[in-house]
This record gives sequence, structure tokens and C-alpha cells, in this order.
Amino acid sequence: MSVASSAAVGPPPGMKVRLSSNESPFGPSPAAIEAATAALADAHLYPDDQSIALRAALTTHLGRAEGEVAVGTGSAALLMDAIPHACADGPPTDTPEVLAFARSFVVYRLAARNAGAAYVEVETGGPASGETDGYARDAEAMLAALTDDTRVVVVDNPGNPTGAHLTGEELTTLIEGVPAHVTVIVDEAYHEFAAGQRGYATVRELDVAHPKLLVLRTFSKAYALAALRVGSIAGPVDLITALDARRTRFNVTATAQAAALVALEDTDHLARTVEGTIEGRGRMAAGLRELGIPFTDGLGNFLTIELGTAAAPVVEAYAGFGVGVRPLAPYGMDEQLRVSVGTPAEVNTFLEASRTVLADVPTRR
Ligand SMILES: Cc1ncc(COP(=O)(O)O)c(C=O)c1O
Repeated sequence: MSVASSAAVGPPPGMKVRLSSNESPFGPSPAAIEAATAALADAHLYPDDQSIALRAALTTHLGRAEGEVAVGTGSAALLMDAIPHACADGPPTDTPEVLAFARSFVVYRLAARNAGAAYVEVETGGPASGETDGYARDAEAMLAALTDDTRVVVVDNPGNPTGAHLTGEELTTLIEGVPAHVTVIVDEAYHEFAAGQRGYATVRELDVAHPKLLVLRTFSKAYALAALRVGSIAGPVDLITALDARRTRFNVTATAQAAALVALEDTDHLARTVEGTIEGRGRMAAGLRELGIPFTDGLGNFLTIELGTAAAPVVEAYAGFGVGVRPLAPYGMDEQLRVSVGTPAEVNTFLEASRTVLADVPTRR
């Protein structure tokens, strides 16, 4: 029996090409599937509550010291713990604030709400136009928005759904400017796709220190294990210990631990996935350019397209071609679409459909 995708998550059942959820169309490492399958034979046993082997492997992979890495059921779950924890950590305030760029990953807002904190957005540049990417972020503007009540600064780098990123230099400016009592969270969910491109740098490459700096990674994107729910958070030992104490016991399943461990080792599969994604993103970008449609060519595994008209009918029109794309109304982006990179064949289908679907949108030059 298959599990039908909910309307909130995926395209309607039966959609041929699912480009709506920033998943990897290249699938998980075959070795990871094998490890997960083997782990199922022991499904009657509780998993390792501490995820010892996976944490050790991630500690090495991330260049960290013992105790500096925790894992959870995806970075979304880790954020749901880390943001409320950080809101209560620091000089007492009745009105804690979580600071993020406008149109950041939606979970930051949900976690702030759970913490009873105000969610404060820092405005970005406007939409893409012509050949120029949109939603440019300004580290100085974020620093200017800090108040005595700010307890968390959270940045998705690169960002979802805008694709915008801060360069290493800009990220350094931001982190260095945040007071020591404020937790800085950098969410690197798309790191593997962004590495080495257009000034992007992971926090680890920066010459920067902050006592409350947390960095998130996930196995859901380039490692293609979204259904298994595994992510990691790295930071100072005291903070990671406190965060790890908040999580549900036995949270990461044995199947997920086994798959993630092997996926981390399968560097060939990862390289093929990243290469295929960047190639597909380039072809999608070239096709949209040819059609004269502005878009943000972000560093994730997706593009953010400007329509200049309500997105809902355009989503419907793509659905008519069996292509599921993501409307962004929950982000206040009523005239934009996010389209994830697919396999080469899926990219062809998307580009083919786009020639008809985008023929009359107002942004077309
Ligand atoms: C910026 C960002 N962070 C985190 C996540 C969530 O990842 P996970 O599947 O690890 O919860 C996503 C997923 O879309 C994302 O775009």
C-alpha cells in the first residue's frame, strides 16, 4: 500500500513529475537503501538512543570535536527544539524575538510561535527582474534590526524558497555583529549543492567565533533520505548537550541511522547527485531565460520564478501537464513559483510544459 501525499506536501496523486518539494530526484544511495533494509530485520529492537555511530561519523565529517554534534528527526525537528530553547536562554525577557530574513524557511516562524516569541522579519531586496536574481539579503540590515529582546538570529543559507544566499564574507559580518547572548542559527540544508559556488561558504570555512553558534545540516536534500527524517545540529558542547536533552527519546529510527551512516560514506553517489542537480538547474535556468521569464537562480536544488500574475492558475496549468510545482502564497509570494530540479527527463518535461504554460505571463519579455 502506498501512502498518498497530502495536499500540503505534494502534487495531486498521479502527477508524473514532482518538482514541488525540493527532494532529490536521483534517489538515495543504493548502499544506504541496502543498509536500511537490513536494519528492518531488527525492527523489534529499540534503536540506539544516542545514535552513537552516526554522531561519530558526522563529527568527523563536519570537522567537529566530540559532543559538538547531535542528530534529530530532520532539521525541522531540531529547529522546533533549538529555537524555543534559545528564546529562553539569555537575559530574561517577557517578549523574546526571533529575527529572520523575510521569506525564510517556514519552520522558523512555527518554532517562534511555539516559543511564544515574536517573529521579526528583515526585508530583503525585491523580486528577480531581467537577468538579476531577487530577494538579496543584507547582513547589515539584519544587524540593524537587533533589539534588546532578540534571542535568536536564524538564517537559511541558501534560503528556501527564495534561493538567496549570503556570501562567506557577509555571513562573517552577520555572525560577528550578533551579541554573545543571542543564539545564531545557520541552516545549511542545501549546503552540498551550494558548496564552492558564488561566494557561498559553510560556517566551518569562516574565521569566526560566537559562543552560541549552531549549524544545521540535513539528510533530506542531497542525500535523498527525506522520508527517513534525519538531520544534524552542531555547536558548542554545552548548548548541544542542552538541546539533546530536549529531544524525544529513541527519536531517530535504526533504519534511518543505518541509512544515513552509509549515505555519508557513499561520496560517489553524493557527487553524482550534486552534479546532476547543478546540471539540471542550469538547463532549467537556460530554458527560462530563453522564454524571457525572470527567476532567481539560487544555490539550492530549485529555482524561484516570477510570474507577474496570480500563481494558482499557473500551478493548475502545470498540473495539466502532470508537473507538480510549488505555489508560495504562505510566504506572501502570490505571483511566484518554486520549481525543484528533476531528473534530466523531468527537466525536459518541465521545459516543454513551460513553453505553453508561461507563454502569456506578464513578466515575459
Ligand atoms: C532551509 C530548510 N531547512 C530545513 C529543511 C527541512 O529539512 P528536514 O527534512 O531535515 O526537516 C528544509 C526543507 O525543505 C529547508 O528548505
